[in-house]
Amino acid sequence: MEYIQLRNADLTVSRFCMGGCPMGGYDWGDTKEEDFIDAIHTALDLGVNFFDTADTYGLGQSEKTLSKGLNGNRHDVVIQTKFGVRAQKGQNTVIDNTPVYIQKALEDSLRRLNTDYIDIYVVHYWDQKTPPAVIVEELEKQKQAGKIRYYGLSNARPEVLALYKPFQGQFVTSQHEFSLCCRKWEAEIRQTVDAMDVTPLTWGSLGQGMLSGKYDENSKFSENDRRRREVYTNFHGEKLKHNLRIVEELRKVAASHDKSCSATAVRFILDLFPNGIPIVGIKNAKQLRDITTAQDWHLTWQEMTRLNRVSHADKNVTPTEMPWLKEF
Ligand SMILES: NC(=O)c1ccc[n+]([C@@H]2O[C@H](COP(=O)([O-])OP(=O)(O)OC[C@H]3O[C@@H](n4cnc5c(N)ncnc54)[C@H](OP(=O)(O)O)[C@@H]3O)[C@@H](O)[C@H]2O)c1
Repeated sequence: MEYIQLRNADLTVSRFCMGGCPMGGYDWGDTKEEDFIDAIHTALDLGVNFFDTADTYGLGQSEKTLSKGLNGNRHDVVIQTKFGVRAQKGQNTVIDNTPVYIQKALEDSLRRLNTDYIDIYVVHYWDQKTPPAVIVEELEKQKQAGKIRYYGLSNARPEVLALYKPFQGQFVTSQHEFSLCCRKWEAEIRQTVDAMDVTPLTWGSLGQGMLSGKYDENSKFSENDRRRREVYTNFHGEKLKHNLRIVEELRKVAASHDKSCSATAVRFILDLFPNGIPIVGIKNAKQLRDITTAQDWHLTWQEMTRLNRVSHADKNVTPTEMPWLKEF
């Protein structure tokens, strides 16, 4: 397992973060809590010590299951949870970053996680109203009170980034969607790292499972699986066709290393962002074991170029326009 110290924090974490969105047990197909718990135990056995969840995943269920799975090991791991998406059954979901809501959300997360502190408390989305200075002031108060150790950013767009800039060095992580089939926030990731001096995390690192190589044009998702809806573009129309070309190339690269497509897709992120950490949503111990085989090896420069080229093929990007190649 590769480990890294998070920027601005006295926290050393695995370069794999177990994602807890499916653990909410909602809208990801049929899932069983015992499988998630088994996956958490396997993660601990394999040296994974970094877990991502949110109050909104399954309306709190993900946090409860994580706590159950960690059992007596809470103090050996780093828990990152998020606030701000205010979702209630039967009501419209709103984003709320006000101090009053932060206080309530934090107490609720602490209770569900069965802990008296959260390692990294993350602003899930900006509500476009509460000034970042007010959010940071509240987070600092909670830090002084010992209820959170550090705080992080998520989905920060350039307009809010400019407002957060005075707090450079105070946030420890920042997460954006990124994978071989979602490159649209790549510039934002690099901008955020530069502006805020944070450790970058990627979510949707497998394109919601697309990059596992098990889906094609004939794949059908069940009624209770979000990927059935066209808004999950990775599985529909032209984007699906493009993704299948990426998977074809991924399969070849993976085979030459005797790895799975999923592990190779995650390795691409590990090698592209040498200080970054991929978050992957996990449903069972088998997936967890497979994804940890992304650790402790490298893709060659040529393989990175091949994957990068097919991933960008729809935009006709040539290698000379890939500034990150300098890193290899
Ligand atoms: N900050 C944010 O706004 C935000 C938003 C979304 C997610 N996140 C975080 O990021 C995490 C990752 O994103 P995500 O869960 O949306 O998508 P993802 O990690 O790209 O895909 C997860 C899905 O891929 C499949 N999978 C995982 N490992 C596999 C393996 N080894 N082999 C084959 N299939 C595998 C599973 O679904 P199937 O087996 O059913 O295909 C799993 O549910 C989330 O869990 C959450 O913690 C953050």
